[in-house]
Amino acid sequence: MKALAELAKRRGFFFQTGSAYGGVSGFYTYGPHGATLKATVESAWRERWATREGHDEIDAPTIMPEAVFEASGHLDGFDDLLVECPACEQSHRADHLVEGQTDIAEAESYTAKEIEGLLAEHGITCPSCGAPLAEEPVEQFNLMFETAIGPGSTNRGYLRPETAQGIFVDFPRLREYARGELPFGVAQIGRAYRNEISPRNAIVRTREFNQAELELFFDPDEDEPDLESVADVEAPLFSAEAQTADGEPSFQTIGAAVESGPIADDWVGYYVGVATAWYDRIGIDLDRVRFRQHQAAERAHYARDCWDAEADVSGPGQDPEWIELAGIANRGTYDLSHHEAHTDERYRVFSEYDEPRTVERASVEPDMAALGPEYGSQAADIAAALEDLAETDQRAFEGETVAVEVDGETVEIPTEQTGFAVEEVTERGEQITPHVIEPSMGIDRTVYTILVHAYDEDEIDGEERTVLRLPPEMAPTLVGVFPLMDKDGLGEQARNLAADLRAVGLSVTYDDSGAIGRRYRRQDEIGTPYCITVDYESLDDGTVTVRDRDTTDQVRVGIDELAATLAALQDGELAFDQL
Ligand code: GLY
Repeated sequence: MKALAELAKRRGFFFQTGSAYGGVSGFYTYGPHGATLKATVESAWRERWATREGHDEIDAPTIMPEAVFEASGHLDGFDDLLVECPACEQSHRADHLVEGQTDIAEAESYTAKEIEGLLAEHGITCPSCGAPLAEEPVEQFNLMFETAIGPGSTNRGYLRPETAQGIFVDFPRLREYARGELPFGVAQIGRAYRNEISPRNAIVRTREFNQAELELFFDPDEDEPDLESVADVEAPLFSAEAQTADGEPSFQTIGAAVESGPIADDWVGYYVGVATAWYDRIGIDLDRVRFRQHQAAERAHYARDCWDAEADVSGPGQDPEWIELAGIANRGTYDLSHHEAHTDERYRVFSEYDEPRTVERASVEPDMAALGPEYGSQAADIAAALEDLAETDQRAFEGETVAVEVDGETVEIPTEQTGFAVEEVTERGEQITPHVIEPSMGIDRTVYTILVHAYDEDEIDGEERTVLRLPPEMAPTLVGVFPLMDKDGLGEQARNLAADLRAVGLSVTYDDSGAIGRRYRRQDEIGTPYCITVDYESLDDGTVTVRDRDTTDQVRVGIDELAATLAALQDGELAFDQL
């Protein structure tokens, strides 16, 4: 991690923001290569998770009013466990201290009281100053950043802790764009914010970060994913049961995992399959990935089931260090039904039956001429309560009077004044609340993992080098163009070549400074897969050398074939050893 963080800073992948002002933990800036790599990850996500699936993408604001997060449950339930050191006053994630200083994994699933007990039992100390934390209280700390919307402070808002809520709150409108037909998905890439107690590991845990989320709305009785397309994908699965039994992850095909466990939901299985193939494509080493099912106590407040994609980002010879790359969660109807309960909108879709059905429907037509004079301003609420009751409990209307609750008071209404009736009606379908499956990816952690898994050190001609073995599709620069020397027209030809390759959309670095070997090393360090050298032979026969980053092999290619050859290498249509 140290070597990668040093490389990232030196070569412009990422660095802590504003070090001139002392830097604030949890805020990072992507430098030129990092910003390009991040944009490439986002494009690859968009292509696979939105475009290829036929889903729309939206771009919602990052600040939303308090009412949204009251409905979503984040105001009450989006907390981490905080302990403060009595000696140095540093704040720490109490569950992370337990994980770091004991054999307990996933301490996030413990309650504050249980963590307090563990601090004492294991003699846990402050990692900053070593003071004992045994007697310290553990508190729930809400992770949302609060702000005031507009002048004054009455209109409280929050920076979104997940992009997802921007999709859920506008479901009624998004439903229209999908012509009210399930299943449909809405994708979003954007910033999210969490006031982490102890940000750590560079861009792995920051306070401002980037998510790519897909919310897939479906009818669990009708809609099925294209499981066939991922049935043969082998994914490393680590079920909750295997974790409890101290077992290991095991590679299973998605087909088998959905058919006979451990994945209960077809859609979750489908997305685990899509994610596995996608990670492989973008340069994440599947031998260092696992899909870990959440234990019940660990699940977010909205989730019925969740499988995290986790990557091992440890260095060679170190113990595995697993970080969460993504969560594939079954959110059920949690979000839509909560937003419906907190607004006047319907967060449902009309689901048509295969055949129309004849059903008994109860209705009321309260006698307002009788209720009005007797109950005054309460009469309308009584009528609404009677309507609700008729829908849910017909037997309540069997006696002489009907009891309804209004403003905390029970009111007895003569049944004959309710206009209660039951009739047979033929219905084409019903309003249902769609279920939601959410594959949610952390973009920054994906970038980080790609870099860790690409990082390598080897020896070329007796000299050590650092190399990023990025897939050509992901590399921030596809090709470095060098003149052997900047004289005799070589520099001019190399500059023209760089301009021609840029003109067809390839990403090119021109470099004429220092020995050619040093120029190769500079490109190896940022993962540039190919380097072209213009030499004296180029002036005679119109060919250049193309050097492969991983093997350092070189071949001569005609300048007029270069653009097409490099594009084919980038797209994976051609391998270097085929040249
Ligand atoms: N939307 C899931 C998460 O942010 O964790």
